[in-house]
Order: sequence, then structure tokens, then C-alpha cells
Amino acid sequence: MFFAWLKRFMPNGLYGRAALILIVPIVTIQVVVSIIFVQRYFSDVTLQMARNMRVEIGQIDATIRTGQTAEAGFSEAERLARGLDIRMWRGGAGAAGDARVFYDFSGIVVTRTLHQSLAGLRAVDLSDLSVVRLVIDNPRGTYELAFDRNRITARNPHQLLVYMLATGLLMTVVAFLFLRNQLRPIRRLSQAAEAFGRGRSVPYRISGAAEVRAAGAAFLDMRARIERHIEQRTLMLSGVSHDLRTPLTRLKLGLAMLGDGEDVAALERDVDDMRRMLDGFLAFARSEALDGDTVETDPAQLLRQAANDAQRAGQMVTIRDVEGEGTAQWRPRAIRRALDNLIGNAVAYGRHTELSVAILDRAVRYSVEDDGPGIPEELRDEAMKPFSRLEPARNQDRTSGVGLGLAITADIARSHGGSLRLGRSERLGGLKAELVLAR
Ligand SMILES: Nc1ncnc2c1ncn2[C@@H]1O[C@H](COP(=O)(O)OP(=O)(O)OP(=O)(O)O)[C@@H](O)[C@H]1O
Ligand SMILES: [Mg+2]
Repeated sequence: MFFAWLKRFMPNGLYGRAALILIVPIVTIQVVVSIIFVQRYFSDVTLQMARNMRVEIGQIDATIRTGQTAEAGFSEAERLARGLDIRMWRGGAGAAGDARVFYDFSGIVVTRTLHQSLAGLRAVDLSDLSVVRLVIDNPRGTYELAFDRNRITARNPHQLLVYMLATGLLMTVVAFLFLRNQLRPIRRLSQAAEAFGRGRSVPYRISGAAEVRAAGAAFLDMRARIERHIEQRTLMLSGVSHDLRTPLTRLKLGLAMLGDGEDVAALERDVDDMRRMLDGFLAFARSEALDGDTVETDPAQLLRQAANDAQRAGQMVTIRDVEGEGTAQWRPRAIRRALDNLIGNAVAYGRHTELSVAILDRAVRYSVEDDGPGIPEELRDEAMKPFSRLEPARNQDRTSGVGLGLAITADIARSHGGSLRLGRSERLGGLKAELVLAR
């Protein structure tokens, strides 16, 4: 409970946290040491010095009292005071009561200690920080004493604190610099990993502490393996598809030579379907490898183009909403293919299609809604798998589909650090496909 509350104020970044871990102990040590020191200083040292001073003053006081006459006592005491480096004069017109500056904490101890055993002490005047003035009542007359403050309080009490603070600050700065150097490799690794998650392969060089190096090496291995994997998949699928095309073409030629029988026409349709499927495989296999590098893309512009092309093909496609603006680092052709797949499904399974796009801070959300039958919730995951077509009976007339459209779209979304979500359209009643992509 308390920690959850505390967590809200904690920095999120590694840098901030490390800084906190670093600074909290330093500050705590300084505070503790300062408190202990100040206490020792104010109470112990001052107390001892005040006691010594009291003995000297007591001697002066006693000398006055034991003189043959008051005169003799005072002149004897004055000589003694000179020897002790204390200024002394008779008469007590000075301060009537104790006085000190409000921030003069050691003054409290001084005043208290002196009062404790000097019976005749009337006033301790510390209003001048460098001088202590005492007014003492003696049976033989009132007199005043003055001596340097540093005889009773150690000089420059703040010096240690200042030194400590200064070195503490210096060490913190040095530690910060070291820390930054240590954290930079981690940040570089996370940037490379993030970029790769979005389908970009940025150059990354292993550096930093042993653990970071290990993670970096593991990341590079992983990246290389995934890239190899994709490459192999592309190569295999496109190789197979390509190799199958030649016999298919031969088959088609052979069928054409057979004449115009009804059976032949059906066979030709089958061959055409197979070609389309092969094209689908090729597209799927290439979905990641295609299009090369990312470029600055305008998400709204992309949607308008897709809508325009669909309208020109006679589809009922409208753009309902364009929210926000900005550009994104994408492979525009891949995104365009993803949108076309979704729009193609929407016009194939419904009649009206509505498109919208929301350009957010860190992501872009396209939605494609239609008024068709939609996909029941339990079948949505299934629909996104490659080669899966739902209820073939439902759309028997469409023999063309391979069942790859949604799989390719989801793949493209993932390679752009996003995802494809299927849901129900509140407005139109059919499917609502949401394509979320990182900017
Ligand atoms: N807008 C939609 N409305 C209803 N059902 C849909 C919709 N979009 C997709 N489906 C269902 O999900 C299945 C998978 O869709 P997907 O786009 O992956 O394949 P396809 O459209 O059948 O073939 P392809 O797109 O490869 O030509 C479809 O067969 C269909 O049953
Ligand atoms: Mg489709």
C-alpha cells in the first residue's frame, strides 16, 4: 500500500533510479554525520571550553573577594585578568540581561554553563558574535569582563559542514558521469531491440559492463537467427511457389488445347485458383522481406489513397474520421497492403465500408468497419491464422480467397511494432478491424 503509493513518485527510467540509489545514501550519510557532529560540537566541545573559562573567571572573582580592601582586590584581579588575556573594568552599566543572536546555538550552551556555577553572574552578552561580555555582581562591586568568543567556542563551526557538502556534491557529479557511461550501452541495446521489434535493423555494437555485453551478444544472436529464419521462409515459399508455376502454366496450356468442354472450363478455373493461391503464398512469404527500409509516411494520406482506389473500383468505401496529424516511420507499401487486405475483406463480406484513422502520440490506429456478418468472438483468433478460412459454406461463391489476408495484415502490424485487433462494429454491425501501428 505505502510502497505502491511511493512508487508513483519514483522515476521510471534506469537513469533516474540509479541516480536516486546513488544520492539517497550520500545525502543520508551527510545528514546523519552533520547531526551527530553538530550535537557533539555544540554540547561537548563548547561545554568543556565554557567550563575552563568558568574556572578562570572564578579565580578572578575570588581574587577580588580575598583582597585586603576592595581596591587592592580589584587591582590584583585586574592584573590577573590581563595575564589571562581577559579585559576587565569596574562598574556594570552594560547589558542588564542575557543576549545572543538567534542562530547562535552554541551560545545557549555557553550561557547555561556559565550561569550554572558563577553565582554573581548577572548577564552574558553574546550579541557581538566575536566577543563575550559578562556582567558580574561581586559583594565588593559590580564589574565587567570581555574576552574573545573563540576562547569559549571553536572557531568556524560550519567549516566541516561546508567541506562535507562540497565534497559530497563533487562526488555526486563524478558518480553521475560514471553512471551515465555505464547506462549508455543499456540504452543503446534497448533502442536496437525496440527498433528490431518494429522491423528495423539498426547497427548495434556490443559495449559496456559484462552483463550488458552478454545481453547484447544474445540480442545480436537472436536478431541474426530471426533474420535468417525470415530469409529462409521467404526463400522456401517463393521457391516452391515459383517452381509450381511452370507446371501450372503447362497444365493450363494443355487444357486450352483440349477444347471448350464444360469439364475443361471447370479445370481451367481450378488452375486459375491455384495460381492465385500461389500468388498469395508469395505475398505472404515476402510480407516482411519486401519494401526495404522505412520512410517518413503520412498515415492519413495512405488511408485516402486506399479509399480512393477502392472507390474507383466501384466499392462503397467512405472515410468517416481522420483524427490528429503527423507522420510515421513505416514501410508504406506494406501498410498499404495491410489496409487493402482489410478493405478487401470488408467489401467482400459486407456492403458499406467505413474507414477512420487516429494519429496518436506514439501510435496510429486505423479502423475498418463493415456491415457484413462479422466474425464471432471465438473465431477471431482462428481467422488471423494463415490459410484459415472460416465456414467455407458461408461464402462458397468466393473461391478466390486463400485465407492469408488477415495473417499477412497481422504480420505487417507486428513488424511495425503493432497489432491487428478484430471486434464488432457498433455503428455498422459487421466486423471492425483495428490496425494499430507504432509511429
Ligand atoms: N469483414 C469480414 N466479415 C466477415 N468475415 C470476415 C471478414 N474478414 C475476414 N473474415 C473471415 O475471416 C477469414 C479469413 O480472412 P482472410 O482475409 O485471412 O482470408 P480470405 O479473405 O478468405 O482470403 P484472402 O484474403 O487471402 O484472399 C475469411 O475467410 C472470412 O471467413
Ligand atoms: Mg481477405
